[in-house]
Amino acid sequence: MHGVNLDQLGRRDPAHYGTLTLEELELRIETMAREFSLETRFFRTNHEGQFVEHLHRLAGLADAIILNPGAWTHYSYAIRDALELTGLPAVEVHLSDVDSRDEWRRHSVITELCVARVAGRGPDGYREALDRLHGELAS
Ligand code: DQA
Repeated sequence: MHGVNLDQLGRRDPAHYGTLTLEELELRIETMAREFSLETRFFRTNHEGQFVEHLHRLAGLADAIILNPGAWTHYSYAIRDALELTGLPAVEVHLSDVDSRDEWRRHSVITELCVARVAGRGPDGYREALDRLHGELAS
C-alpha cells in the first residue's frame, strides 16, 4: 500500500527517492514477490480515508501487508488504528532514510504494530519486507 505523494515518484527528489516511477516500483515489487512465491496486490491513494477503508477491507483478502504511508506515517493515528484492526502481519517500508532526515520523519505511529521496519534501502527495501513476511507466513 502506497500513501500520500508516492504517486509522484519519478518527480520527487532523486537523492531521497531514486528515479523509478510508482508504476515501475510496483512492477519491481511484483517481480521480487515471485522470487518468494508471493502474490501481490497494490493499492495507492492520496486520500487518507481511502487508505483507512482499504485497510478495513484487507482482513480476508490478504495474508500480510507492506505499507509505505508516506507522510501519514508520522502522524496518522487513524491509519494506525485501522492497521491494528486488520490483525495482519505488516512491514513498514520507506524508500528514504527517514532517520537521517528531518527530525519529524524519525517518528512513526505504526512501527510498533509492524513486524519490521525498513528504511533507506530504496526499492530493495521491499525485497527485505517480502523476505520478512515470507518467513512470517511460513512460521
Ligand atoms: C517516505 C518518507 C516520508 O517521510 C515521506 O513523507 C514520504 C516518503 C519514504 O518512502 O521515504 O512521502 O515514506
